[in-house]
Amino acid sequence: MSSANTVPSNVVSLDDYEAAARKSLDEKYWAYFAGGGADEITLSRNRAAFDDMALEPRALRDMRGASTRSTLLGMELPFPVLMAPIAYQKLAHPDGELASVAAASALGIPMAISTQASVTLENAARSATAPLLFQLYIQPDRGFTRTLVARAEAVGYRALIVTVDAPVNGIRNREQRAVFRLPAEVAAVNLEGAASPISTGATTGGGSPVFSGLLNGAPTWSDISALTATSRLPVIVKGILSPADAGIAVDCGVAAIIVSNHGGRTLDTLPASIEALPRVAQIVAGRVPLLLDGGIRRGTDILKALALGADAVMIGRPYVYGLAVAGGVGVAHVLSLLRVELEAAMALTGCAKLADIDQSIIWSQRTYTNAEFPRFGTIPRT
Ligand code: FNR
Ligand code: LAC
Repeated sequence: MSSANTVPSNVVSLDDYEAAARKSLDEKYWAYFAGGGADEITLSRNRAAFDDMALEPRALRDMRGASTRSTLLGMELPFPVLMAPIAYQKLAHPDGELASVAAASALGIPMAISTQASVTLENAARSATAPLLFQLYIQPDRGFTRTLVARAEAVGYRALIVTVDAPVNGIRNREQRAVFRLPAEVAAVNLEGAASPISTGATTGGGSPVFSGLLNGAPTWSDISALTATSRLPVIVKGILSPADAGIAVDCGVAAIIVSNHGGRTLDTLPASIEALPRVAQIVAGRVPLLLDGGIRRGTDILKALALGADAVMIGRPYVYGLAVAGGVGVAHVLSLLRVELEAAMALTGCAKLADIDQSIIWSQRTYTNAEFPRFGTIPRT
């Protein structure tokens, strides 16, 4: 890893950061960050689905007053990107999450801090000026879980993100092959004092390590209802692909939904999150804001997600690659690159505001009726 905090001049895209991070990271840690579940079919599909989608350009539109700003649950978004929760960022850089928080704060971009962060949630909050969200893994010990929530509330976190797609570990063959282990100096410090998530002495689950762990305290929807009823903070649920689950989440009182397959790290052969988004959007029907993560690497990907119903997106691996390559400077550069790319994509599809981005910019979704042509033929006067 590099602590020099300088960006090589040939690193100009998020994929360039990925390639540079691969060189600077220890092979085991590269396997942890870059890897997905099992055969990594979902991991690849997250990218392929964006690449397969063509855009319709629009020329000569009036772009005066163009802006990428919006708000989400009372937070100002300079552009519709948030930083996804990523565990153990000290594996990428000695300053870990604190460097990412510094970059988020410099740019005013909301960042989620993982339950499995390698710094305490209080330390992350101390230096932050950007909004922070606390990503909660509901623990088998619900008392400990309540303590985590109270700690996040006490130091000014703006929302809880409850991740629901990883009640058991994914089949992480890439990590296994690389013999990934946490080094002694990196730990999930927020969980100190909690009972181990997988109870080995289980009598339930027929002796299966997977099912025993689940049956010994995995959360259910009633935990989500209880949390929305008791927490002062908005509760966002992360890891929804099923439209049916999205409907249940809304009924449980969540404030927003993150359409996500955990970056392809849990169940393999799930659809890309962008493939699931339109169906989820249809069921949710604007009742709560929708976010999407998984495979966002270009401004055009953000545009496509917004066109298909997302209000904002989250990025995961790319900012950690920035962190590995150049610390907080790298994280800020990654975010700035995406912002410039989004602005270019909006300009070239004729969208001055986020609200102008709709399905009509997706080539395959666009259908013309003859009745529309006279209207397109008129010259707009301003
Ligand atoms: C994650 N993700 C994740 N999610 C979560 O809710 N809590 C966590 O602690 C973590 N940790 C984590 C570690 C690593 C190394 C990765 C790559 C991912 C999932 C993350 O928040 C997000 O859903 C995906 O990373 C989004 O996909 P992209 O942007 O990485 O393609
Ligand atoms: C992961 C867990 C920490 O994806 O969410 O590695």
